[in-house]
Amino acid sequence: MIKSSEPPLINGNFKGKDILSISQFAPKDLFILFKHAQKMKKIALNAKPSNILLGNIITLLFYEPSSRTFGSFGAAIKQLGGQTVEIQDPQHFSSVSKGETLEDTIRVFEAYTDAVVIRHPITGTAQIAADIAKIVPIINAGDGIGEHPTQSLLDLLTIYDKHQRLDHLTGIIAGDLLNGRTVHSLLRGLAKFKSNTMYLLSPKSLQLSKEYMEEFTRAGIKLMVITSEKDIPKNCDFWYWTRVQKERFTNLKDYEKVKNTFIVTKELFETRAGTHTILMHPLPRVGEIHTQLDDDPRAVYLRTQIRNGVYIRMALLALVLGKLP
Ligand code: CP
Repeated sequence: MIKSSEPPLINGNFKGKDILSISQFAPKDLFILFKHAQKMKKIALNAKPSNILLGNIITLLFYEPSSRTFGSFGAAIKQLGGQTVEIQDPQHFSSVSKGETLEDTIRVFEAYTDAVVIRHPITGTAQIAADIAKIVPIINAGDGIGEHPTQSLLDLLTIYDKHQRLDHLTGIIAGDLLNGRTVHSLLRGLAKFKSNTMYLLSPKSLQLSKEYMEEFTRAGIKLMVITSEKDIPKNCDFWYWTRVQKERFTNLKDYEKVKNTFIVTKELFETRAGTHTILMHPLPRVGEIHTQLDDDPRAVYLRTQIRNGVYIRMALLALVLGKLP
């Protein structure tokens, strides 16, 4: 398939498409994916051998550290009988260390494998990789402070699993909203659905950028900036907490000033959350949700949210590689 230089809309057909942004997905595409993710869950939970990706090899090319995205893509591929070529930290463990360009690196791995999953610290690199790749799909596994589309797919699935809808939701999104690629993708995804209201809680220096505020508001989501835990409305449908990202700061002192501004304690969650509220976090966490909450059935970050990462990536890869009807 010859590719265009724009992220292609899915429009009901995933085959051969780069996955660069959640903007590519219409609500109907999300529901197609969710339906397949349910089937993938059965394959994964029953440990049934699957040949859906038999004969496929996929490159995992990670220029930034990762546990979940790298691990869950690898698990997803292996659950479906496929194989991986894994390059972590290519700056040290590949010929990138000798000065090889991104262009040559992408051209090489598209010659070896059927898709390239790339994480990179610079925003826009997944799109550049997609422009370079002539034949195989590129999947954005997080590009700097830009987007993390597969994370938002699993986040949206997790919210849908609980509430059976993605509209008429009220949520809190907290932490590093300026640099949080998971937040950008999630808000862009939620803006596709009617009557969603999100309360944005962050230190002033890490508020969502004006550009994103305008884009998402124009798309139809209601955004309410709040500055204190006291402003958290009771009984939200979900809380989505994120970490202040040390790696996005040039000055460590600036990081230290804001890192622990908002922490979910058992007391805060008991006071403000409802019985139906789910507590989410894309992880890793570095202290911003107290571990006493881990056993609360409403805390999904180490349960359904993390598991959905495997199921959604199984479904996405199978669809993009044209292995599902
Ligand atoms: N949620 C997420 O992207 O985690 P990793 O950085 O560990 O992949």
